[in-house]
Amino acid sequence: MIEIKNLTKVYSGSVKAVDGLSLSVRKGEIFGFLGPNGAGKTTTIKMIVGLLKPTEGTINIENIDIVSSPVKAKMKMGYVADEPLVMEKITGVQYLNLISDVFQLPPEVRIDRATRLLRNFKLADAVKDPISTYSHGMRQKLSLIAALIHNPDLWILDEPIVGLDPESAFILKQMMRNHAKTGNTVFFSTHVMEVAERICDRIGIINKGKLEFVGTVEELRTLRGQGSLEQLFLEVTGSETENGDFSYLDAD
Ligand SMILES: Nc1ncnc2c1ncn2[C@@H]1O[C@H](COP(=O)(O)OP(=O)(O)O)[C@@H](O)[C@H]1O
Ligand SMILES: [Mg+2]
Repeated sequence: MIEIKNLTKVYSGSVKAVDGLSLSVRKGEIFGFLGPNGAGKTTTIKMIVGLLKPTEGTINIENIDIVSSPVKAKMKMGYVADEPLVMEKITGVQYLNLISDVFQLPPEVRIDRATRLLRNFKLADAVKDPISTYSHGMRQKLSLIAALIHNPDLWILDEPIVGLDPESAFILKQMMRNHAKTGNTVFFSTHVMEVAERICDRIGIINKGKLEFVGTVEELRTLRGQGSLEQLFLEVTGSETENGDFSYLDAD
């Protein structure tokens, strides 16, 4: 569960990246955070996971304030950054052990979870090799596994679909569903509309730091007409172009 109230982030140089954002994400929900490039998605996520301090506003994770109780709040979360940052010299096994140590997982629990996750993502063989030998997609999969190994109440992912092969993307979507089904919360950002439409219980659309819409895709349709989510998204963000050039949506 995430409870965000009146969240604002002003970067030095007075860029207002997030502007008075309030949002509640419930238990058991898959929430898609949509918005064009530079809308403020990554900035919001970094404040939720405690990597950036809000200029104003509050964020509670499972009723724990991230600013005043960062360690306690972080124990509840698994975070996958937009750029998978994993250490080069150690092996995947060593990396997962390191993360398991941080979360103080007993040996039998970490082995059980790692085995299942590695099998799901077909990374069980490569995990014995140094991370330096991994492809981008393999690093991303290792980051996904590392973020789930402590079975977090909140799984938070910044643009997780980018860079995954179709099979891994399919597996990821299944894992998101499973994670939410067992009473946890999944919050992810994306600019891939089709993904959001298929798996999100609700979406939020952010544009220029402001939350323009929160609700189900159905509610968005009722409000804005029967277009594709992509068209509705462009309407909400005011970025529909006359020639229908949506190509920027593919860029990150
Ligand atoms: N470290 C930073 N310093 C100053 N401005 C930043 C910084 N990071 C992001 N921004 C600006 O904040 C805005 C929101 O960026 P970001 O949160 O990365 O958006 P998104 O993830 O939706 O693409 C953009 O205008 C971006 O240029
Ligand atoms: Mg981003």
